[in-house]
Amino acid sequence: MELKPPALLADYDHVRRLAMQSLFKTLENFSEGTVIVDRNARVVWINRHYAARFGFDDPQAVIGLDCETVIPNSMMREVVQTGEPILLDILETDRDSIVVTRLPIKGDDGETIGAVGFVLFNEIKGLSPLVSQYARLRAELISTRHSLAQVRRPKYSFSSLIGTSAVSLEVKRQARRAARLASPVLLLGETGTGKELLAHAIHGASGRADGPLVTVNVAAIPDTLLELEFFGAEAGAYTGADRKGRIGKFELASGGTLFLDEIGDMPFALQGKLLRVLQEQEFEPLGSNRIVRADVRIIAATSADLPALVAQGKFRADLYYRLNVLTIRVPPLRERLIDIEAIACAILDKLTVETGAGRLELERDALALLCSYAWPGNVRELRNTLERAVLFSESERIDGRSLASFIGDGGAQGGGGTEATHGASGGIEASNYSDAMREFERRFLADALRAADGHVAQAAARIGMARATLYRRIVALGIEI
Ligand SMILES: Nc1ncnc2c1ncn2[C@@H]1O[C@H](COP(=O)(O)OP(=O)(O)OP(=O)(O)O)[C@@H](O)[C@H]1O
Ligand SMILES: [Mg+2]
Repeated sequence: MELKPPALLADYDHVRRLAMQSLFKTLENFSEGTVIVDRNARVVWINRHYAARFGFDDPQAVIGLDCETVIPNSMMREVVQTGEPILLDILETDRDSIVVTRLPIKGDDGETIGAVGFVLFNEIKGLSPLVSQYARLRAELISTRHSLAQVRRPKYSFSSLIGTSAVSLEVKRQARRAARLASPVLLLGETGTGKELLAHAIHGASGRADGPLVTVNVAAIPDTLLELEFFGAEAGAYTGADRKGRIGKFELASGGTLFLDEIGDMPFALQGKLLRVLQEQEFEPLGSNRIVRADVRIIAATSADLPALVAQGKFRADLYYRLNVLTIRVPPLRERLIDIEAIACAILDKLTVETGAGRLELERDALALLCSYAWPGNVRELRNTLERAVLFSESERIDGRSLASFIGDGGAQGGGGTEATHGASGGIEASNYSDAMREFERRFLADALRAADGHVAQAAARIGMARATLYRRIVALGIEI
């Protein structure tokens, strides 16, 4: 028997068209935003609300523009190009994330002639636990990436090391060689000579460059906390703040480099523990019986006279020998005067960019003055001096006269010391002697720390105070470093 098509077949087409229209109307009514683009992904129509979300008050004004110009991150072009819908997606906008659907529009011959996009949900957290989880995970990912990037990326490479004097070139040669080898590196040199910069460059050029670079500034951490900082602790190993447990720097640096800055300040007892880890390549976090492999390369640095500390019995000889394999002596600036011009120019170039002023330059007499000073604080002092000179200078050309008052005892250092004292005592509002003394001390120590770029050991040396005492006073007076 022949099957006859139902009599109402002609109406089916009608229903289909109505269905399409009402689907569009429903979505459009429901949607917080609708956009239609042509086959070239140019906006054909956009509703007022959606245009306003992207900062366009008049929807007419965006007609004919590329969709990405109006909606950054739009994927409508992909829909017109592939002819495939993107049924559910999350679009990141400046303000928030929205849930969108994008459908191709087909002509009678099945060709894609454009696309329509709807915002399904304005607030993705309303959509479902799944999407709100997405928002949370994304936020976590961003913050993790951020902290990883900070830990991992070396701040400096060999190209940041400026200097073409024979001694500087030799330092760079030794450092490049150290980067290729796996033994510990020991960087010796006065304060401000660039040891930290070298440590970053060595890590960055080493086979561990993709691993983390983790720094422990031994002088900045109270002796009692150093062991915890190094090896971490199992949850419950401590009561109080660290009850949750803590991952030590050795574990954090796994696969990368551990930079032990100011190693000369390491307490004697901990030196023995460090030596054991270096020899056995493993350690146990405090309060645990878990053995962690120490897959780290050590770079240690100090401005102290390590052999002298060994001779005095303050630094373990066996640890010194263990570290003293690839030793690089970073010479003080006064032994490489011909580097001063290049370093000073690089500093001024950077300051030019930072201040946004005209190009900063040194007059010949200013350069001569820089080369006649001994620079006890080395490159750091040179940088601070130039920064101050630029800050106070009226002109972009810095001459000897304007520079003189900022150099060393001519002003900044010695003069700065007395200034700091005046500054510290001036304007103290305290009703009694002990409060006034406390406030004076707080300001004086804060000034000293600022002058030493926050280096506790260095500030302590400058003002003639023991490092541990300075540390205690910082904590007691609530000074921020
Ligand atoms: N060769 C160099 N070229 C350019 N800048 C340098 C050079 N050496 C040091 N600097 C800069 O000088 C400053 C001090 O360097 P760094 O912190 O590496 O010194 P340091 O030897 O670790 O000092 P400290 O012993 O006080 O910790 C930094 O701003 C660094 O970028
Ligand atoms: Mg340093």
